Amino acid sequence: MNSLDVHSYGNPAEVRVKHVSLDLEVLFDEHTLKGTAVLTLERVAKDAKRVVLDSRALTIDEIEISSDGAHYREARYNRGKADPILGELLTVDIAPDSKFVRIRYSTSPNGATALQWLAPEQTEGKQFPFLYTQGEAIHTRSWIPLQDSPGVRVTWDARVKTPPGMRAVMSGVDFRMEHPVPPYLIALAVGDLQFKATGPRTGVWAEPAVLEKAAVEFSDTEKMLEAAEKLYGPYRWGRYDLLVLPPSFPFGGMENPCLTFVTPTVIAGDKSLVSLIAHELAHSWSGNLVTNATWSDFWLNEGYTVYFERRILEEIYGRERAEMEAVLGYQDLQEELTSHAAADQILAIDLKGRDPDDGMTAIPYEKGALLITAVENAVGRQRLDAYLKDYFDRFAFRSITTAESLDYMHQHLLASDVIDVQSWVYQPGLPASAPIPHAEAFEAVDLARVAWMQGRHIETKAWSTQQWLRFLRGLPEKLDEHLMTALETAFHLTASPNNEILAQWLLMAVKNGYSSATDRLEEFLTTVGRRKYVKPLYSAMDVERAKAIYEKARPLYHPITQASIDQVIVSLKGESKR
Ligand code: BES
Ligand code: ZN
Repeated sequence: MNSLDVHSYGNPAEVRVKHVSLDLEVLFDEHTLKGTAVLTLERVAKDAKRVVLDSRALTIDEIEISSDGAHYREARYNRGKADPILGELLTVDIAPDSKFVRIRYSTSPNGATALQWLAPEQTEGKQFPFLYTQGEAIHTRSWIPLQDSPGVRVTWDARVKTPPGMRAVMSGVDFRMEHPVPPYLIALAVGDLQFKATGPRTGVWAEPAVLEKAAVEFSDTEKMLEAAEKLYGPYRWGRYDLLVLPPSFPFGGMENPCLTFVTPTVIAGDKSLVSLIAHELAHSWSGNLVTNATWSDFWLNEGYTVYFERRILEEIYGRERAEMEAVLGYQDLQEELTSHAAADQILAIDLKGRDPDDGMTAIPYEKGALLITAVENAVGRQRLDAYLKDYFDRFAFRSITTAESLDYMHQHLLASDVIDVQSWVYQPGLPASAPIPHAEAFEAVDLARVAWMQGRHIETKAWSTQQWLRFLRGLPEKLDEHLMTALETAFHLTASPNNEILAQWLLMAVKNGYSSATDRLEEFLTTVGRRKYVKPLYSAMDVERAKAIYEKARPLYHPITQASIDQVIVSLKGESKR
């Protein structure tokens, strides 16, 4: 086990993988990637006799070693037992002069957790299949054998053979990444993809049928990029493009370098959900330049990014928008703080023996961002901004731990008594002095909600999406048939084109047994696989109903969403017995 990272078997302290050269063929019929990975090694310990890699469900055909990259000879290798979370250790014996390891392998049609293979019916155009990868947190090992730790950065290049008429795109420039990146940021997608520019450095990749809509929705991306650079220094990755995935994509977005992957559910027609783009863009600094060294440091990626995201929003859409997002985020945080054990409320969370994907709660995101806000309040925006600009530069293309990051902050920004960062990071809950975000734009909404509950007419024409979310979330948990019908009649929520509002409304419908929304609910759950939306919906259903819908929907979901909903169904069963 890698002594620094409990989620990797790799031995980078002895031999370190520095570069990955891929040559892969995409076999849609077999749901398999097949080819070779050539790993360039750096010997850290002179007498190292083996390199230890991570893998998951890979079929290994042959492993060879070479000192010059031209002449290879067969190597001995060993595979460990499969661990459900970590996969299989792969040990390759190397000679004193070995510099390259060439692995001939193929991925597993069922066991590759990084891959989603979509049938043509699951795409917008319904003509071509689709494939995409999702590496974070520890899934890259299921399509590339390497040292799959965010602390072991690699450069990479790739050749990808695709069927005729289909295009492959990757998280680099021209199938090459010249900056060292953590393995979870190596990404590939293959489909019927076309490109449209939204600016000199920005553009959108999407299926032809969604390309226009997407380019309009994301037309502020270039402006966001400029605003981000103005805040925290030059964008170091060349291009910043977006790839719109089919609706089963399990996340909102994934910050793959040069090419952020996004769910199509953010295309609302009015740019109201583009905070997600600001977020993924911000990762080009917090996360991709300066990376969490282990998954216990995940808050370094996400907390800084949420803070940065809202600064970008403020620049482009004004202070009010940023404030509303902060208040909604604070509500999420309060809710999650009540549902997680004390140990999991700690920013530097202990994930030993657990799947690091379990750490993806509102806590690293919103508690992390609130900490940076607290620092801002303590030292002033000007000093914080100067500090962050320097921080991203100082640690550019490096992976750091929570301790390293806090040390740096103490040395360069905070006198130790200004704010108790230690308790923010290592204690559960929030410190008593934690800032409480406030949005004036929500005051009118809160008043309107009271009026509505008293049966009065309210004026909602000018409300933003964020105000609608505030309105809906603040309604009582229990609403009777009469009130649900009144809401629907007045606001046509079941037909909302905005997925954020729709998901919130459908959740209320499930919780209150509002049957008029049933068809829409089933349609939603059998087309959208974004975990953030579907998980709460299943969790709120009774087990019979959940099982009936899930039976139809499960094949459409990504393995990551499947795993989450499988768990939900089990816990629902437990509840119904009690
Ligand atoms: N890097 C995350 C996605 C992620 C985290 C994938 C952990 C796998 C493991 C991405 O930047 C993210 O945070 N996405 C959010 C949206 C964001 C606006 C909060 C999401 O997908 O919900
Ligand atoms: Zn993020």
